[in-house]
Amino acid sequence: MWSGRFREPLDPGFESWQRSFPFDVRLLPQEVAASKAHARAIAAAGILTDAELVKMLDGLDGVIPAALEEAKSAKLDAASAAAIAALHPEAEDIHHFVELTLTKQIGDLALKLHTGRSRNEQIATDMRLFVRDAIDETLAGLLAWREALIATAKAAGDAVMPSYTHLQRAEPVLVAHWLLAYVSMLERDFSRLKDCRVRLNFCPLGSGAIAGATLKLDRHIAASALNFDGPTPNSMDATSDRDFALEFMQNLAVLGLHISRFAEELTLHSTAEFGFLDLPERFSTGSSAMPQKKNPDLTELIRGKAGRLQGAAITLATIVKGLPLAYNKDLQEGQEPVFDAADTISGMLRLLPEFTGALRFRADVMKAAAEKGYLNAMAAATYLTHKGVPFRKAHEKIGQAVRLGLETGRELNELTLDELRGFGEEFAADFFDAITLEATLDCHDVIGGTARAQVKDALEGASQRIATDRALLASLYSKKAGDSANVGLEQTAIV
Ligand code: ARG
Repeated sequence: MWSGRFREPLDPGFESWQRSFPFDVRLLPQEVAASKAHARAIAAAGILTDAELVKMLDGLDGVIPAALEEAKSAKLDAASAAAIAALHPEAEDIHHFVELTLTKQIGDLALKLHTGRSRNEQIATDMRLFVRDAIDETLAGLLAWREALIATAKAAGDAVMPSYTHLQRAEPVLVAHWLLAYVSMLERDFSRLKDCRVRLNFCPLGSGAIAGATLKLDRHIAASALNFDGPTPNSMDATSDRDFALEFMQNLAVLGLHISRFAEELTLHSTAEFGFLDLPERFSTGSSAMPQKKNPDLTELIRGKAGRLQGAAITLATIVKGLPLAYNKDLQEGQEPVFDAADTISGMLRLLPEFTGALRFRADVMKAAAEKGYLNAMAAATYLTHKGVPFRKAHEKIGQAVRLGLETGRELNELTLDELRGFGEEFAADFFDAITLEATLDCHDVIGGTARAQVKDALEGASQRIATDRALLASLYSKKAGDSANVGLEQTAIV
């Protein structure tokens, strides 16, 4: 690719060490699509005749089939990609490989393809296309998981559980309300990735090596062939910018935190100590040593993989930090964390909807836990405030009632009215109606609260937002369907 000015051959150890083809082979579909778009742009600039363009595009369409044939594989996946890379030690990177293969297909005409472009803009474009696909796949996965959480929440009906602050029992909540907390987190994750996609969707092609293409290219041609919203505005930025990947990975890092909190709660809730749920056997493993064990491997691995997502985001940030403009070879090291983060999230999101649907809650145990331990104390204090007692005073009176209960081994509803009146004359017979489990739930009758009617509305709202987001995804997929610039290795639509 660049042998002209060199007198010495490369050190063989250095040569193989600096190659990126073993991992950037993964960008084969993106590189072919971007090359086709560039071919159209240089043809419009008069570098290729119409006949040459047709030949070039056909040749590029033949690159993946030719590579697969050599690798004796019917489809492009991780295994065939590794085989392709192993078969071509002569290729420095994906750009070099596509050009070499194209040359075998169409001869010297292939050498015209690199007119007016640089690998710096190519890798920036390929990575944008890859991340765009990965975002779309993640959005689809998030939607499927939100749906599973909502379906599980609906199926839970009026089931209750204790909620916790400081990991101490706090107040009863509907199981549906607890599940909807995760739906809220995932809605924010969805929205962040959607925003990131908007900023990503500009095309670096035409930026050249750093200063812009040396041909008067109409940059809109390549941009629209690849379904970008337009060309990037600055060539120095475009060839070295990796914000789109940083944002993507930082969003995944946050999403990973959410998934890992869910995983941690389930791990805890499935212990004998909590006993709130049974983990599905088909997502658990046994112990080779202790015959009685059922281990929560799925949730544990998720907690671990969330750490890996943090690591990937930090790796890229550290690579980009302090890089002078514009392209620097350091950026090549930023590819693998992106691939790893995309694979990690896609693996988790593939399992989570099914896993969530298979959870079996022990409603009786959860309910018993919600009814013990004075979880209705806030509701009891609120009762007194309705009788005109200032909350601070109400808090104290109920505190005294709780103490009596603790000393005599009784819940608040087991104290007598006379005993209660000892703490305040405001206590009346209707007190007992105000502290039932149902009343304790329903007194949280605010938007976002756990009152049964509010949760019903919240479920309705969450379902409606699913419909809106599903329509958005459908439009993204149908826009992309027009050209070949989508679906990289391992990336298939979930919708
Ligand atoms: N393999 C390189 C990368 O991933 C492609 C760009 C190379 N550009 C260059 N000027 N050496 O970053």
